[in-house]
Amino acid sequence: MTRPAPVAAPITPPPAAHAVAIVGAGLVGSGWALVFARAGLRVQIYDPVAGVRAGIPAWARESAAALAGAGLIADVEAVIGRLHVVDTLEAALAGATYVQESVFERVEVKRDICRAIDAAMAPETIVGSSSSGIPASRFTEGCTHRGRFLIAHPVNPPHLAPVVELVPAPWTEAAALAGARELMLAVGQVPVALTREIDGFILNRLQGALLNEAWALYDEGYAGLADIDATIAHGLGLRWAFMGPFETIDLNAPGGIVDYAARLGGMYHAMAQSRTPRAWPEDTIRRAGEERRRALPETELAARRAWRDQALTGLAAFKKASGLAP
Ligand SMILES: NC(=O)c1ccc[n+]([C@@H]2O[C@H](COP(=O)([O-])OP(=O)(O)OC[C@H]3O[C@@H](n4cnc5c(N)ncnc54)[C@H](O)[C@@H]3O)[C@@H](O)[C@H]2O)c1
Repeated sequence: MTRPAPVAAPITPPPAAHAVAIVGAGLVGSGWALVFARAGLRVQIYDPVAGVRAGIPAWARESAAALAGAGLIADVEAVIGRLHVVDTLEAALAGATYVQESVFERVEVKRDICRAIDAAMAPETIVGSSSSGIPASRFTEGCTHRGRFLIAHPVNPPHLAPVVELVPAPWTEAAALAGARELMLAVGQVPVALTREIDGFILNRLQGALLNEAWALYDEGYAGLADIDATIAHGLGLRWAFMGPFETIDLNAPGGIVDYAARLGGMYHAMAQSRTPRAWPEDTIRRAGEERRRALPETELAARRAWRDQALTGLAAFKKASGLAP
């Protein structure tokens, strides 16, 4: 595979020259910062932990260099120059027309930070929450500007996996939803829209269905973790890197999706009926933990995450060069 030529930054022009605030700069918030900075926007980053703030420049430089190495950005220094780490929430929000909230996934933490954002934001600012599954109505109800809040749920890391689920609360204004969608398109992400709230949104409900079955197969001794993982990594996952389950089955029967359902719908129904929903069993989780730590010692988790990000960077470059991604 030939490496794609570096593209001129920004990839797609942002809708306006405005600043974006990143509130919470852990795994996900720091990735979001790169998403906006590489598209040409000024990014103001706040996290209450001084050590987190201090670590951002080095992490961002290393990550931007990896993107440049894969031809995904042209100018590392220009991207880094757009990142501004600040010491207060108010400084992050100053002049920001969009806020990406990425604090801990706990409803009381989200509620507190949304109240603080609400008090400091301009009325027209849009606030997207990275919440993995808690709907915005559980933590934005008391906000004065609650119509400007919605879920903008990414995949980790957002600068390598572009999908973002946009989920309105019952009171989210249509204009705020449209504005978030326009921004995400402009910065090269792939927004998907839910019409209304549901716990887990689309992504984690699909992931949950797969994980529930994977745990059950493992728990009942049908296969080990490595073989279950290989079924996805070297099978289902290959297609899923560029098409979803509906398009997959549309192509997997001579007459398309309806033909597939006629041939195999009964089998899937019987499989669904054979399962009763239950919590993941604790002793099985312990056994899985031991099996994983034998395969990958805890001391090697960070290196393996870097390996994953390197593979995702290569995949992102391939998809872009092949016209499979925006
Ligand atoms: N990790 C993932 O795979 C993933 C994927 C998609 C979405 N998310 C969601 O993104 C959000 C962040 O998750 P993460 O994995 O980055 O967690 P993380 O623990 O890496 O980072 C959370 C950061 O929020 C900061 N924080 C806590 N309270 C804050 C406050 N009041 N104001 C500002 N910052 C505050 C913390 O200091 C920390 O740096 C969660 O809602 C999570 O569910 C996570």
